[in-house]
Amino acid sequence: MTSFHIAVIEGDGIGPEVTGEAVRAVEAAAELSGASFQWTHYPWGSDYYLEHGQMASDDYLDQLARHDAILLGAVGHPDVQDHITLNGLLLPIRRRFDQFVCLRPSRLYPGIESPLRDKEPDSIDMLIYRENTEGEYANVGGRVYQNQTDDIAIQTAVFTRRGCERIIRAAFEKAQTRPKKHVTSATKSNAQGYGMVLWDEIFAEVASQFPQVETDSLLIDRAVMEFVRRPETFDVVVASNLFGDILTDLAAIVVGSMGLASSANIDPTRRSPSMFEPVHGSAPDITGQGIANPLAAILSAGLMLDHLQLDAAAAAIESAVANLLANPGPRTPDLGGTATTSEVGSAVAERIQAASQ
Ligand code: NAD
Ligand code: IPM
Ligand code: MN
Repeated sequence: MTSFHIAVIEGDGIGPEVTGEAVRAVEAAAELSGASFQWTHYPWGSDYYLEHGQMASDDYLDQLARHDAILLGAVGHPDVQDHITLNGLLLPIRRRFDQFVCLRPSRLYPGIESPLRDKEPDSIDMLIYRENTEGEYANVGGRVYQNQTDDIAIQTAVFTRRGCERIIRAAFEKAQTRPKKHVTSATKSNAQGYGMVLWDEIFAEVASQFPQVETDSLLIDRAVMEFVRRPETFDVVVASNLFGDILTDLAAIVVGSMGLASSANIDPTRRSPSMFEPVHGSAPDITGQGIANPLAAILSAGLMLDHLQLDAAAAAIESAVANLLANPGPRTPDLGGTATTSEVGSAVAERIQAASQ
C-alpha cells in the first residue's frame, strides 16, 4: 500500500474547523485507491505568531519540503496585520516550492442556486489558472520616509518571460483536454504598458502553438463584467497573480458560495510538495460558531488526491459533494441551510463510504 506523508497547517479562524473535515474525507476515500496517509499537524499561524513573534519555526520550509503534499486551512487574524501573517507563512510556501500553477475550479453544482438569475445546473464550469509566484505578488519594493509626512511606498510587479510562459502554457495544455477547448487571458495592457504587454505577447506566442484551442483576450475590467453577464461562456481562464486572486472570489460567489471554492497550488515538475487550500480566508466573522462550510476544504483535498494520482479517491470526493448538493441534505448557512460544519463533513464521509462498499 502506498503511503503518503501530508503536512497539515490548519492555521487561523475557520481554518481548523474546515481542515478537520477535509482530513476525514480523505481518510474515507483512501481505501478506494489503496493508499494510506500519515498526517503531521503543524501549529503554525497567527496564534503561533502571538506567542513566538513569528508565524512558524525557523526551518518550516525545510520541514514542509519532506512531505508529499501540504493541506492548509487559512491564514489571517484580526489582531495581526495581514502582510505580516501572509508574508510569514502562506506566500513564502508558494514561492519556495515554485507552486506556479494556482488552479481554481468554479462549477455551478446541480442543487445550488447562483445569485445570477436563470443559470442552469452545470451551465457554469470554468477553470482559472492563476500565476502564483510573481507578477503583482513579487514582494519587490520598499518604503522611504516611513511614518513621515511625505511617506513613499514603491511596489513593483515582476513579469518574466519564464513566469508568463509556463502558466499560460499550463492553461493551454489543460484546455486542450476539455470539450470547449477555449482559453481566455485576463490582461490590462492598455494601462500596464510593460508587464502586461509582455504577458499579451507571450499569450499570442503560446496560442499559436495550440491551433485547436480557441482564445480570447479580455481587459480585466471587461472580464469581471463578463463573469457576471455570461459566466457560462468561459472555459479555462489564465490570469496574473492579482487578477487571478480577484477573479476567483468573483467566480466563487457566481457559483454559489466562497464555501464551495477549492484551490490547488501546484508545482507541476513535482520537485516540491504542492499545497491545497480553499480559496476563502479565515472568515473571522463566523469563526468559532461551527457553521463554516467545509466543502471548499474537502474539494481542495480532492484536488490533492488528484495530484497524488489517486484517481478513484479523488473522484469519490467530487461525487460525494455533488451528490450531497444535488439532494436534500445538510447545508451550512452560506447555502441557505442550518447545518453545522461537522454535520456536512459527516454527510460527505458517509457518502464516500457508501460509494466504496
Ligand atoms: P474570507 O474568505 O475569509 O471571507 C469572506 C466572506 O465569505 C465572509 O463573509 C466569510 O464569512 C465568508 N466565508 C468564507 N469562507 C466561508 C466558508 N467556508 N463557509 C461559509 N462562509 C464563508 O475573506 P476576508 O474576510 O477578506 O479575509 C479574512 C482573513 O483571511 C484576512 O485576514 C485575509 O487576509 C485572510 N485570507 C486568507 C486566505 C488564505 O489563507 N488562503 C484567503 C483569503 C483571505
Ligand atoms: C488567496 C488569498 C491570498 C492571495 C492572500 C491571503 C494573500 O486571498 O489565496 O486567494 O491573495 O493569494
Ligand atoms: Mn484571494
